[in-house]
Amino acid sequence: CGIVGYVGTKQAVPILIRGLRALEYRGYDSAGIAVYDNGVVQVRKRNGRIDHLEAFVGERPLRGTLGIGHTRWATHGQPSNENAHPHADCTGDHVVVHNGIIENYAELRDELKAQGHRFTSETDTEVVAHLIEALYDGDLVNTVRRAAARLEGAYALVAMSRQEPDKIVAVKRASPLIIGLGEGENFLASDIPALLPYTRRVIPLEEEEMAVLTSDGVKLIRLDGTPVTRAPMWVNWDPVQAERGGYEHFMLKEIHEQPQAVRDTLSGRINRSGDGVLLDGVHLDPEWVRGLRSVYLVACGTAYHAGLIGGRLIERLAGIPVWNEVASEFRSRDPLIDERTLFVAISQSGETADTLSALREARRRGARILAVTNVVGSSVAREADDVVYTWAGPEIAVASTKAYTTQVVALALLALRLAEITGHTGEQERRDLLEALRFLSEALEQALELEEDVRAIGERTRTWRDAFFIGRGLDYFSALEGQLKLKEISYIHAEAYPAGELKHGTLALIEPGTPVIALMTQPDQREKMISNIEEVRARGADVLLIARQDLAGVDRHAQTTLMLPAVHPLLMPVVAAVPLQLLAYYAAVTRGADVDKPRNLAKSVTVE
Ligand code: G6P
Repeated sequence: CGIVGYVGTKQAVPILIRGLRALEYRGYDSAGIAVYDNGVVQVRKRNGRIDHLEAFVGERPLRGTLGIGHTRWATHGQPSNENAHPHADCTGDHVVVHNGIIENYAELRDELKAQGHRFTSETDTEVVAHLIEALYDGDLVNTVRRAAARLEGAYALVAMSRQEPDKIVAVKRASPLIIGLGEGENFLASDIPALLPYTRRVIPLEEEEMAVLTSDGVKLIRLDGTPVTRAPMWVNWDPVQAERGGYEHFMLKEIHEQPQAVRDTLSGRINRSGDGVLLDGVHLDPEWVRGLRSVYLVACGTAYHAGLIGGRLIERLAGIPVWNEVASEFRSRDPLIDERTLFVAISQSGETADTLSALREARRRGARILAVTNVVGSSVAREADDVVYTWAGPEIAVASTKAYTTQVVALALLALRLAEITGHTGEQERRDLLEALRFLSEALEQALELEEDVRAIGERTRTWRDAFFIGRGLDYFSALEGQLKLKEISYIHAEAYPAGELKHGTLALIEPGTPVIALMTQPDQREKMISNIEEVRARGADVLLIARQDLAGVDRHAQTTLMLPAVHPLLMPVVAAVPLQLLAYYAAVTRGADVDKPRNLAKSVTVE
């Protein structure tokens, strides 16, 4: 989601709308603004794009010089006029916008309902407005600070009040907030681009900090009440680049967002004792799960590859037979599906036509439908019985990156949930995997440190015509995703094979200099994988080995090696995705391809 705020002497509406447009890439399923207008806080919000909001404000204008705004990427509650931000309390005096997730909102809502508060939306944000109303003691800054102390989760929060119409109060916990300093006016936004038309003097808020903005100044305070002083920064950005947060392409930005995206996917989903998974959109009857005949995982493209990994995890941890199928092929197999089947549809957009048709076919045959998707209120989410959202935030580049890794993580959570029910995997093993999930974002950060090495390898792809990706077990699935990424954005022909299968035919294509990308992240496959690498090297292949760093001595089997941080073997595909994505990215850049919009492809394919 994106947040903006303005306090000064100019009309707030055009400034807020322009800021929201600059932040539209952060989410665009609904938008809204609140302005202090003639003694009251007036809210205008609309489902859909910012154009809709602007038209609505055109019909019902607002006048005032202080306001806040929001463009939403739905998490709790479908995109709708009611669920759009800003949200107000019962009196309409206290109004908030927020970005991120309030994990304990259900608890707080029950508490506030018991005190007589009435809610009009399904969002976690509305709870914050009511909490501020309940705690308000005549001092908005102090009240917001006390409210923040009750909120669990990662978020950025901005509040204004009719009672104190000279100020905006902001809190940062994990989600970004940047203050922009003007002359007799001040601004705030989730990202620098929204501020650039007005000022280049900015102060990014740090963790656990609050800001109080008035027209003549900005005060920073820590959430514990201690004042903070920090000199502003001067930003020297080209505005177009700034929209991508300083990255040259959305794809690169999204690759770098993966540690945070995975953190968001996991947020609030592991219980406090670390031995159980909480999936609030999933309501599976344990008795029914124990009687399951099979789980089908069906998807297209990158989501299909995430499903292959997820399927392996479900089979291994929950002990239920799994079938994976490409959505467009699903119906042609006359699938053996009935009431004892769990059908898992995986789709970033939730709108892919092939996936939707497969889902409907499975429904017709009696299966229970579970969706893994990134888009709240999407068709796949609406038609499913259960939903696990990936919470990756908007993905703009056609080639999927953070949607993929978060799908794998969401499926790992599902596998663990099913395993808890079936008891196929013991408690200690489940605990170990949950513990490993907690450290996954750190491992992704380490994997991103390979970027410079991968960039150099990317330059070597200038001469590549064909490339082969090989791996065993889960590494084969990573190989499939690696070759798809390379093909779709760099247009280099690439194929993935189970490493042991190469000798049954494709080995004939290996010549001196043929690039082979070998994955080796599974300790139990080490010896066999080394043999397969030697087979291609004996034919002159140029081997790039991507290996888990603790597999000692493997680097001498390849011309080039990239070492990955070691995590639980079942989670290695998430970490291995990073260098594969970067390789595709730098190959495309080297070859001058349009990275974010590859030829012939679309982000969301709504035809069969
Ligand atoms: C398109 C995109 C792919 C994506 C696939 C499935 O083909 O180009 O990147 O993996 O659709 O999309 P979905 O939104 O269903 O995950």
